[in-house]
Amino acid sequence: MKILLIGDIIGKPGRHAVHQCLTKVRSEHSIDFIIANGENIANGTGIQPDTFKILLDMGVDVVTTGNHIWSKKEAREILGKDARLLRPHNYPSENPGTGLGIYDCKGTPIAVLNLMGRVFMYPIDCPFKTADKALEQIGTKAKIVMVDMHCEATSEKRAMGWYLNGRVSSVTGTHTHIMTADEEILPGGTAYLTDIGMSGSPNSVIGMKQQQVLYRFLTGAPARFEVSEELPYLFQGVVVSVDKETGKATQIERIRQFVN
Ligand SMILES: [Fe+2]
Repeated sequence: MKILLIGDIIGKPGRHAVHQCLTKVRSEHSIDFIIANGENIANGTGIQPDTFKILLDMGVDVVTTGNHIWSKKEAREILGKDARLLRPHNYPSENPGTGLGIYDCKGTPIAVLNLMGRVFMYPIDCPFKTADKALEQIGTKAKIVMVDMHCEATSEKRAMGWYLNGRVSSVTGTHTHIMTADEEILPGGTAYLTDIGMSGSPNSVIGMKQQQVLYRFLTGAPARFEVSEELPYLFQGVVVSVDKETGKATQIERIRQFVN
């Protein structure tokens, strides 16, 4: 079973990069299932019904998110109603939606768990204990379990990789928008990558216009950030091969393609 995970898709350039690359990547790598983080798809922050639909129409099976899930109020119209949109599972349960779903892929169940870190982020429920509970809930319903760890600190992502080593098929990170080069299969058969990186305009500061971000760093004053539309655009993702009988990962490969 080959599963493609796409990191944060930043606004229109991100959508364009995914659109341009997905068909080719899917056929070249014989992809069976696609998970994408869509929390920045609506003009850089948030997701609404129409941008969610764009991802589904492109062939994405499950959309994970993160701290920006609440940025567009329309996301609440989808959460809990369409199981293909997840929010971090460790947000308190009073919130709409869930961060755990089990999906059918050609007769094989695939569980997707969306978690969010707490270091340098809003202090929500513990992602580690939430993962334990989610795995209990999954039980024998799915052998393949893919975790999107949406998180600022490298250490917290890495810690989650070790915590879930041998218990899930993969732990891959999102949120920091920069692809890391530390992909590996941990000893228990869990594929790991600290961050998948964004799809968007790389001539930017993590997807946003350089000048606006620099103004904020240089002056300390607030500045409005807009999505950089400077070409070329970049598509980034990671392909994880999983043995469907055991749920163990056998291979992890990063993908990085520029698009004009
Ligand atoms: Fe984020």
